[in-house]
Amino acid sequence: MSKVDDFFDPTSKEFIHNPHPYLDKLLSDFPIAWFEKWQCWLISGNKRIAGCLLDRRLSTDFNLWEYAPPKKMDKEKTHFEKLMDNNLFFLSRQDHLRLRKLALPAFSPRVMDFMKKKFAKLVKQRLEEIGEVQKFDFSKEVAEIIPSQAIASLVGVPEEYFDIFDNLAYGIVRGINPMLDDEERGEATSGIEEGLNMLNDLIEERRKLPGEDFLSALILAEEEGDRLNNWEMCALIGSVLAAGSDTAVDLHSYLIKALLEHPEQLDLVLKDRNLIQNAISEVLRHQSSGKTGLARYATENIVLEGNKIKKHQMIQLITSTAGRDPEAFEDPEKFNILRNQENNISFGQGPHYCIGVTLVRSQVEVMFNEVFSRFPSLELTDDIAYDYFHHNARRMNKFILKTNF
Ligand code: HEM
Repeated sequence: MSKVDDFFDPTSKEFIHNPHPYLDKLLSDFPIAWFEKWQCWLISGNKRIAGCLLDRRLSTDFNLWEYAPPKKMDKEKTHFEKLMDNNLFFLSRQDHLRLRKLALPAFSPRVMDFMKKKFAKLVKQRLEEIGEVQKFDFSKEVAEIIPSQAIASLVGVPEEYFDIFDNLAYGIVRGINPMLDDEERGEATSGIEEGLNMLNDLIEERRKLPGEDFLSALILAEEEGDRLNNWEMCALIGSVLAAGSDTAVDLHSYLIKALLEHPEQLDLVLKDRNLIQNAISEVLRHQSSGKTGLARYATENIVLEGNKIKKHQMIQLITSTAGRDPEAFEDPEKFNILRNQENNISFGQGPHYCIGVTLVRSQVEVMFNEVFSRFPSLELTDDIAYDYFHHNARRMNKFILKTNF
């Protein structure tokens, strides 16, 4: 039998254009396989991935990886490395739980209802800036801008600092890529220091005069007499940016693409706006926008269905295969916004379940409503291009839509 390395290359143009044949082959022939190219195990299948997300022997801490660079002394660490020390994925179980508990109220449905008005203003403003055009690039002019602005307004960053915040987001998202060497990481993370200075200034302002934003909630949050220090607050915002700014970009684009490709289903959502939430789940399941998966590191030797995973080895849970597993979804190839989504694990499962799920769902719902209110006759063109160098997503970096204005 051939090896995974013989057919699986998520960085290839073929995969980026249509990943489904490769994901299906992983599912049917290589559900658990060693991948030489990345020196890690690839794990596919809905139940299997869900099981791994709940398996306490598998950690999210990159520092446990057999090839992780040695830990530096505190004084030698860059700002990026200090942020990562307190990142939700790299903390001990106890610290993770504590920080998560402190952060959760800031994502409550009540806060999200309040945020929806702010999101609507951001999107309206963006669409007005686009103007009465015949065509526009949805990817560059909406999808790449709104998610980071939405997080900025949740955090409480004033609009004049949105660009600095966006550079901070970029640095964190790109810096996390384990394949970068030191020089490349230094370059990718060059905007982080300015972003942190801005956040620290805002923290001081909010300490004096709290507002109704995430930063103020973090300052006031208390767990058994325990409060967050500045680094912990910045690292929490960093975790939110790492997990939420880039992922949402693809959801914006693929939602519009998938619905325009299925006009009868778009019609259903336009007539009953409540269907948008199921449509979001279906887009995440069906469009397979990720190139890689969720990383885990074995904390002990593990035997998984006969495969010997050694302590400190890396595992990539290929989450796109979870949505294509026929045991979890009938006729998985079919895009159907009305289907049952109870096996959908696009937002994870277990201790690291996505904190931002209500935020991104509200944000995308608002975006959908505003876009179709401004451009009711939106139409696809075949002018679409992919960013072949994006580190973990099948990112469309050109997605031209006709407005029929
Ligand atoms: C389409 C958009 C999104 C998708 C598909 C997504 C998916 C996920 C998944 C699968 C996880 C679990 C990761 C793991 O177990 O390794 C996760 C965690 C997380 N997500 Fe999201 N996410 C999205 C948007 C967001 C947004 C907008 C935010 C915040 C504003 C956010 C914040 C987080 C955080 C902080 C975690 C880590 C939670 C923890 O470790 O306890 N995500 N997300």
